[in-house]
This record gives sequence, C-alpha cells and structure tokens, in this order.
Amino acid sequence: MLVAPSILSADFGQLKRDLEELKDAEADLLHIDIMDGHFVPNISLGIPVMQAINNYSDLPKDVHLMINKPESFIKEFIGLGADYVTIHPEATSQLEHCIDLIRSNGAKPGIALNPETELDVVLPYLHRIDLLLFMTINPGFGGQKFIDSVVDKMIKANSYREKHGLNNLLFEVDGGINEETAKVCSENNIDILVSGSTIFNSKNKKSTIRNLRNV
Ligand code: DX5
Ligand code: ZN
Repeated sequence: MLVAPSILSADFGQLKRDLEELKDAEADLLHIDIMDGHFVPNISLGIPVMQAINNYSDLPKDVHLMINKPESFIKEFIGLGADYVTIHPEATSQLEHCIDLIRSNGAKPGIALNPETELDVVLPYLHRIDLLLFMTINPGFGGQKFIDSVVDKMIKANSYREKHGLNNLLFEVDGGINEETAKVCSENNIDILVSGSTIFNSKNKKSTIRNLRNV
C-alpha cells in the first residue's frame, strides 16, 4: 500500500520542517484536507497554506475537498499543485462536471464517500475516476475511531472493480488508520492509506510509515 500522511495533523507553526520530515520519512504522497465549515463542522486550511505546501514539498499532492460546491475551487487547487482532487458527491449537484473539470485541468479525479453514503451513488462514475476514497470516520476532524461497518462497502467495491476490470481505479481509506486498521485495509485490497494522528503522534515517522505500508 501507499501511505499518504494527512497534513491536518501537522504543526502549522513548523510546516516546512514537517514537510521535509515527511519527505525524509518516504511518504508516498501528501493528503491535504480542505474544509469550509459548512460541508463539515470544521475549517482547516485554505489557498495560502496550499500554496506554501506546494512551495516547500515536491511530493505528489492528494487534495481532499470537504467543501460545498467544490466546482468553484477545483481549478485553483490544481493550479497550486494538486495531483489528485477528491470531491464528495454529498457536496455537489454537479458531480459529472466536477470530474470533467479535474481531468481537463490536468489532475486525477477522485470521489470520497462518507461512512453513511452507499456505493450505488457513485457506481455510474467509477470508470471515469482514478480514486475512490472510503471515509472510515465522519469527516471534519482527525483522531477519531475507524468505523468498521465501512468494510462492507470496500468488499462490494472490490467485487465491482474486479467484475468491470477497473484496473486503474485506486482505493483509498481515510480515518482512524493505525497498524490494526491498516491490516483490515490491506486484507481488503486498499491501495492508499491516509493517516494523520498515527503518523504525527509517533516518534519516528519513517518507521511508522513503513509499518503501515507493510502491515
Ligand atoms: C478528516 C480528514 C482526515 C484526517 C484523518 O476529515 O479527512 O484526512 O486527517 O486523521 P486520522 O488519521 O487522525 O484519523
Ligand atoms: Zn482527508
């Protein structure tokens, strides 16, 4: 599996140092959580911080937009270095347009599903995206507990991916990842693990990332 540390758990007073540490720790990509205080009950970081991340890190950037009407900001985040842009179907009435916008501006489209959102909602779009993100917490805050019931959705998605030969579609899990839950993800063919608190609270980011990758 690839490991994507979530910048939400970084020390924003030492952002440059934390970004350098993640590079040295061999993180595969950076997971960047953007919140608007409406779609989720929290506000995280925005355009100027994304700009700083882009200036100080050349790791691939996986931008998770937890904002209503993501269509308004897609182009801007791609201009600031986003390689993947992941949007929530719960946050837009223009899902198809968002996917096209992400692709036509040169990034890879992803769709994120809240724990309660059924897989059926996105089945018609899976052949057009690069990433399906399973939220295993309710979005808004790091440090929450992995919701086990989302595993059923992963199982369904695995059969769909296999049946339809969607070999380029990556599965990513976000929320409550530690060594124990990473193992559950690995058993369910997850390709990318997002991890905030587990990595940033650990003494040695490199070995924590390595352990998560190889559970
Ligand atoms: C929450 C974010 C997550 C968060 C995960 O809305 O989408 O990426 O940072 O944090 P942990 O790994 O601590 O659950
Ligand atoms: Zn996230």
